Amino acid sequence: FFFTRVKVTFVLNDGKRLETVANVGDTLLDVVVNNDLNIEGFGACEGTVTCSTCHVILKPEDFERLPEEASDEERDMLELAYSLTETSRLGCQITLTKELDDLEVKVPEAINDACS
Ligand code: FES
Repeated sequence: FFFTRVKVTFVLNDGKRLETVANVGDTLLDVVVNNDLNIEGFGACEGTVTCSTCHVILKPEDFERLPEEASDEERDMLELAYSLTETSRLGCQITLTKELDDLEVKVPEAINDACS
């Protein structure tokens, strides 16, 4: 199999940058899990859109190039996210495409886990 790989960087609240190489077709949640990234509380519902712990903030230009808009489900969950921005999405709902190479996302400070 040949997988197209893309670079994805997670920027944490303390400014720490976690650089990863991910497969096209993975979600940002997959990337966090597969790389064992130490982001506290991220992805509590394992991608079932019932939490907002995978909240990420994109740069406006990246937000524009996402292939899919947020579903109603995702929007509802985002409403509950802490420090919501105009370019916020749920990481488990972003699937990487090769156009998204060099994606950089911010992981907001506080995670408001709507599951608990
Ligand atoms: Fe819970 Fe994404 S992991 S909504």
